[in-house]
Amino acid sequence: MKTRWYKDAVVYQIYPRSFCDGNGDGVGDIRGIISKLDYIKSLGVDAVWLSPVYKSPNDDNGYDISDYRDIMDEFGTLDDWKEMIAGMHERGIRLVMDLVVNHTSDEHAWFVESRNKDSEYRDYYIWRRGRGKDGKKPPNNWTSNFTGPAWEYDEESGEWYLHLFSKKQPDLNWENPKVRQEVADICNYWFDLGVDGFRCDVITYISKKDGLPNGKPAFLLVGYEQYAVGPRYHEYIHELNERSFSRYDSMTVGESIGITPDNAFDAIDESVGELDSVFSFDHMSVDFRLNVLPKRFDLVKFKKVLDRWQQLPKTCQPTVFLENHDQPRCLPRFVGDYKDKRELAGMSLAAAILFLRATPYIYQGQEIGMTNCNFAVEDYKDIMSVNALATVKKVAPILMPYAKKVLLKRARDHARTPMQWTDGDNAGFSTAEPWMKVNPNFKDINVKDSEAREDSLLNFYRKAISYRKGKDVVISGDFSLVRPKHKDVFAYVREFKGQRLLVIANFKNKRVKFKLPNDFAFESSKLALANYKDAQDLQNNLLLREYEALVYEIK
Ligand code: GLC
Ligand code: CA
Repeated sequence: MKTRWYKDAVVYQIYPRSFCDGNGDGVGDIRGIISKLDYIKSLGVDAVWLSPVYKSPNDDNGYDISDYRDIMDEFGTLDDWKEMIAGMHERGIRLVMDLVVNHTSDEHAWFVESRNKDSEYRDYYIWRRGRGKDGKKPPNNWTSNFTGPAWEYDEESGEWYLHLFSKKQPDLNWENPKVRQEVADICNYWFDLGVDGFRCDVITYISKKDGLPNGKPAFLLVGYEQYAVGPRYHEYIHELNERSFSRYDSMTVGESIGITPDNAFDAIDESVGELDSVFSFDHMSVDFRLNVLPKRFDLVKFKKVLDRWQQLPKTCQPTVFLENHDQPRCLPRFVGDYKDKRELAGMSLAAAILFLRATPYIYQGQEIGMTNCNFAVEDYKDIMSVNALATVKKVAPILMPYAKKVLLKRARDHARTPMQWTDGDNAGFSTAEPWMKVNPNFKDINVKDSEAREDSLLNFYRKAISYRKGKDVVISGDFSLVRPKHKDVFAYVREFKGQRLLVIANFKNKRVKFKLPNDFAFESSKLALANYKDAQDLQNNLLLREYEALVYEIK
């Protein structure tokens, strides 16, 4: 039943609100996606991960769902969605939907009912009496991921409900078997409509610690690890796998804070019947401390983290990504000041990730090298940025300049500026004023211009994706880093039954010497991919140009 198609797949992530506006109201939508299906196909990707399109009051842009079985009005109708998935399948592209079931919207019918103490839905959520004589203190010290306490007081019933994200995102009570059956039914509903898999939002948060004990105090009022991988996590996911995932030729990928190379086997090995893969954030944390504060990017550490995932048994499928809708853009994040070499830098990053043993995810705009935006305070739209600014303003106004600086590096908004299609009005994203600021660099950075140039980053992505397709050495070859301690270059070799692939990517905007290790033997080499035209043949001593990326087949 399971073909495990994801082992040879590249996935393209669409954040629908910012991808393409089909009806001219300034908000991206499903008809907009339909109009770009040929473009998506032209990238050579095998699947799309679509961020949530379900009914939602949009407190967190669709990650707060009020009806799991229907489409958000702003995005279109279920019929539009059906046309979209049919168009994808016609083109050989699979559809992975977002599954947001740690919490619902507070406008979901279950939660509305649940506010009533006597309702059978009360136990769908996590309601508790408060502390203190009058119960006016939250039940424990947990903090929300969007700042502030993770509990909201409900006057009517005199109790508090848990929300690990905004107060409009109440956490579901997975201890309740009815909740777990509802989730399986939702998955099967979409599978029966043809979807090919799910990206499971903050899935490692679903099982809460018994008794909801106080956690370690959170930094900057932002909660995190203390909620991850609770005591019954594996049991719940195994059950969901049995009731749903295993019945279809599906792929699941968990957003799995707390899953590390040390415990990944139990979470994703093919033998355990849980999820097929997870997103880990370890490689995305090397330039941050305490999850939020910027720190210098350390390539050696970055390589080490990725290497640990590569060394997992072949029955555990790693993933790799440099961007998603919650992260700033990878340019210039991992490559420093690229000056006039933005696209070369993007190519070096692309080469580094696309030949790992992993399912690579490419986020919309990454393929043309979209960058962070120089936002003013009023440009921020994301609830996380807005809350963070409001909190700092309230509790430590003196830190405002620092908070602004952090957001310019860190805000999730950077990934959410409208996709830059052309150099025309609103970057070709919409005929109306977009819901969010367009990055002013769209005149230079856009799909139309990238299409027109053979040597663009976009065309490099296409070449690299098409080159990796179906190659055993990429899908299942062994992985070893070459010169793991080199500070400027990400190099590795893949090997499968005598075939070898050598990938060398200079992450710096400078010329760099790169010497192959003495015991690195090869008789002949063939250049398979490069981002400079006159790339050199392989030799033991290479002088790499700025951001030079080279992929060789070697014997
Ligand atoms: C995940 C999503 C993020 C969302 C959060 C709450 O981290 O990727 O966008 O805000 O979950 O659903
Ligand atoms: Ca629209």
